[in-house]
Amino acid sequence: MKDQFNREINYARISVTDRCNLRCRYCMPECGVKKLSHADILTLEEILSVAEIFSRLGIKKIRITGGEPLLRRNLPDLIRKIKDIRGIEQVTLTTNGVLLKNFAQELISAGLDGINLSLDTLNEKTFSDLTRRKLFPQILEGFQDLIGKIPLKINCVPLRGVNDEEILKIAALAENNSISVRFIELMPIGCAFESGLRGIPTAEIFSTLEKNFGELIPIYSKNSLQGPAQYFKIKNFSGQIGFIDALEHKFCGNCNRIRLTAEGFLKTCLSFDSGLDIKNLLRSGDKNLEERIRETIYRKPREHSWELGIRNEKLGMYRIGG
Ligand code: GTP
Ligand code: 5AD
Ligand code: SF4
Repeated sequence: MKDQFNREINYARISVTDRCNLRCRYCMPECGVKKLSHADILTLEEILSVAEIFSRLGIKKIRITGGEPLLRRNLPDLIRKIKDIRGIEQVTLTTNGVLLKNFAQELISAGLDGINLSLDTLNEKTFSDLTRRKLFPQILEGFQDLIGKIPLKINCVPLRGVNDEEILKIAALAENNSISVRFIELMPIGCAFESGLRGIPTAEIFSTLEKNFGELIPIYSKNSLQGPAQYFKIKNFSGQIGFIDALEHKFCGNCNRIRLTAEGFLKTCLSFDSGLDIKNLLRSGDKNLEERIRETIYRKPREHSWELGIRNEKLGMYRIGG
């Protein structure tokens, strides 16, 4: 369906848990976070019925997010069932990779169409400092094991003084592997800016890459189900380089996305706290749920105003799902 600004809304990000087995400094406070109870989050059946409504409203792609989605029990089964919904063309997953090794085969068998793996560093010590957990070796193993088995994208948030020395090495993962390596500008969500970490502007990363690898040639994609990344090709690279620069280059005009939080709240924009409490309506047996969802999507806000210092959303990224 179209929203009030004539944008085609065809992509839903569904967060299945707010829990996480890492504590990335830009995402979660050290002491962890207050755990939601089981009753607070949607059951898998509830998620499925919302996904069915979404598909009737024109959603064609669903990305499963968290927290860390692989912590949710029976996730492969949920993926299989969402894939079976008529109208859903793609189901993908964003993960920190800690549990990939355990679940890769099941996820592939369930029909998962792609995995986005958060990997900000290739240095074990930097990883433990940034995520406050010593789990790097198993992530690396899970990642290496997956190459060639399913479309894979790496997410790297460049951070000043943390991984800036590694940008070339991380980008070079796309040299011999047919994967996408994407650099994401740190966004002012949750504790990201308060953590003391500083993102690096895309322009700087771009020029570092061009100086070392030669021209970055833009790839124009007609895929209407794509997220906000802009992709580039480098000569002799098998894979691609992508940039998600929400601050330097606002992509709100082309936004095709809605979000469902683990608590069952429909968020129509990453940077706004407005939306619809689907969980309550579902549980109270509201007969007009589909219509209410349609109206809420229609009213999706035009754009974020981070450049003006305006931050409507107070939830952390782990509760939104990115
Ligand atoms: P695909 O194109 O489907 O691979 O999705 P994606 O790149 O959007 O998914 P992923 O979960 O890997 O997200 C990568 C980064 O993009 C995360 O930091 C998200 O927060 C960010 N992102 C995704 N959608 C939006 C959006 O609508 N607005 C903004 N500002 N950032 C977004
Ligand atoms: N800004 C940009 N990206 C973020 N992520 C988490 N928090 C932020 C933030 N404040 C990224 C993670 C993961 C993806 C889901 O979102 O690194 O790759
Ligand atoms: Fe967990 Fe992702 Fe947040 Fe890191 S960024 S703490 S992996 S939800």
